[in-house]
Amino acid sequence: MNARLESMIASAKDAWTAAQNNGRVKINVTVDTSSIAQGADATLGALREAVRANNLAADVQVTGSWGFCWMEPCVAVRSAAGTRTVLYANVTEDRVPEFLQRVVVDGGDMPELALGVVEGNPTAEIPLLADHQFMKGQVRRLMANLGTTDPGNVDHYFAHDGYAGFGMALEMDAEAIIKEMLDSGLGGRGGGGFPTGRKWDFLRNATADPRYIICNADEGDPGAWVNRILMEGDPHLIIEGMLIAALAAHSTEGYIYLRYEYPLAIERMQHAVDQAYERGLLGKDILGTGKDFDLFVFKGAGSYVCGEETGLINSIDSYRGMPRIKPPFPAQAGLWNKPTNVNNVESYANAPLIIRNGAQWWSSVSDQKEKGTKMFTFSGQVNWPGCIEIPFGPKVRDVLDQYAGGMRDGRKCKGFQPGGPLSGMLNAADLDLTLTLDPYREKGMFLGSGGIVFFDETACIVDMCNFFLAFCEDESCGRCTTCHGGTQRAVEVIRRIQNGGGRETDVNIFEQLVTTLVWSNCLHGQFAPTAIKTSLKAFRDEWMEHIVDKRCRAGVCPGLIRYVVRSQGDPDLPKAEDICPTRAIYQDDGQYAVDDALCIRCGACKEVAPNGMEVVDAIVQVVPAGAAAAG
Ligand SMILES: Cc1cc2nc3c(=O)[nH]c(=O)nc-3n(C[C@H](O)[C@H](O)[C@H](O)COP(=O)(O)O)c2cc1C
Repeated sequence: MNARLESMIASAKDAWTAAQNNGRVKINVTVDTSSIAQGADATLGALREAVRANNLAADVQVTGSWGFCWMEPCVAVRSAAGTRTVLYANVTEDRVPEFLQRVVVDGGDMPELALGVVEGNPTAEIPLLADHQFMKGQVRRLMANLGTTDPGNVDHYFAHDGYAGFGMALEMDAEAIIKEMLDSGLGGRGGGGFPTGRKWDFLRNATADPRYIICNADEGDPGAWVNRILMEGDPHLIIEGMLIAALAAHSTEGYIYLRYEYPLAIERMQHAVDQAYERGLLGKDILGTGKDFDLFVFKGAGSYVCGEETGLINSIDSYRGMPRIKPPFPAQAGLWNKPTNVNNVESYANAPLIIRNGAQWWSSVSDQKEKGTKMFTFSGQVNWPGCIEIPFGPKVRDVLDQYAGGMRDGRKCKGFQPGGPLSGMLNAADLDLTLTLDPYREKGMFLGSGGIVFFDETACIVDMCNFFLAFCEDESCGRCTTCHGGTQRAVEVIRRIQNGGGRETDVNIFEQLVTTLVWSNCLHGQFAPTAIKTSLKAFRDEWMEHIVDKRCRAGVCPGLIRYVVRSQGDPDLPKAEDICPTRAIYQDDGQYAVDDALCIRCGACKEVAPNGMEVVDAIVQVVPAGAAAAG
């Protein structure tokens, strides 16, 4: 291996071992966007301050996510002797004094917050973390450093064989790197599943220079945060993957196109890029090898369609963020019209693992056509919105029960949406589909980049379609009339149905939209009506109820429901009156009533007075409050 790299890795390993054996307690606090939203910054500050003020023999460090995103802040504590590490959840700022006293000062445990024993022996109260339902069956390769290393410290990455894959790639020729990638069977993780090695080979065979390597870190699908977890938790893994791609394709310049809405990921990726420059891993004459590679973090401006690779290229090129007509493909004419390769964050992150451990090791974890591991995030009405890494293949039903903790409040799963707003909606019968690519392709949709949203009976299918189509309309770049006009028309029709104006011919309009939008230039327009198309199959009864019967079974669509006072004796009714933003709830002769003309169906009254208020079908005749019921 390159002598400079070898020496950096060796000294980082020595420093890591020395730090682990310095007789001080190690307190690793997960600080990422999910945990910060639950107070991790305050926890970190309180821990640091208390350790300093009490002169405790402990080191407090920032680390990435374990995936337990619903019970942050997570804190792992390793004993002073280094023999035992326990992972704790929900360590909020107010719990810090007691936590430190019991876990650090007294050297004991705090079982009520413990998730499991990471290293060492389990106890009657704290089982092994590996036996936790959320961890069983996970194979954490991409996530291996998360929870252990500080994402801001390149030496921590070196100490865990970081950049060793790049070191090996430096000794391989481009063909050999690409062969290893092809042998691994890695398919792009951005949703398409196209073999990454083939894409790199296209760029290698390009005839023009310079050639560019781009990392697509736009991650715009609502419900997907796989890429964020990686960038915030182990940014050097992505840089290393891009360096390997650059070697394979003879590229000298790269960009990480990172979405505007990920400020922490931007900060951490930029910091990691700066460190890589400082250590001679980026720039001119990398590690004295004569090879050059400059890498820039490019901040997107919040456009979903700029996640489409040619829209992204246009955006860096300073043009409007509009997908280009293909061909030419990016490998022929991409950034600045030069040959370009675009891959997803997770695709690049796998490259160091493949080169370091070999294609055979990497692929053998999966017995499916899709090789390697895949990260997934689960959200919606589930108990455990978190992030996991597993081999492809389990049934959706099993991952819902095991890793997402089942549906909230004991409700039944009505359906799920894999793959973001351009993908479709499936019903509970489809929970038997596997987490592989083909079953979704066969249904005219896709598994996507790893975000899966589950919903229960309280979700209205028509309202969800309204959300997805309105999103697609908003995010349309405006280039194709089919796309911007078609999504606009779809939203108009859906909202008319939601307002009680459904017509049976609306189904024909939807069918026409599906067959028309397919002529849009890019996948955004082509797949925009997939939510309608798939839900018309999976939830046809519910659509027809809305269109023909003018009923919304979930009690959501504004024109099909009304709010009434159900129980005059409910003590929460004054709260409902108070919270109503349009003063639709009033008292008449001591009786509460709703002025339907003023009511905007926001549902706030039902939230504060769930027993006193009721949602009924708009077509039901409501007996005015106080009037005697007619026989
Ligand atoms: C509207 C739209 C948005 C997209 N957003 C993303 C995204 O945020 N991240 C991503 O990796 N791919 C996204 N893609 C797919 C990319 O165009 C491209 O296929 C992908 O970056 C290729 O990387 P891979 O081969 O590693 O999967 C999007 C596609 C479309 C049509």
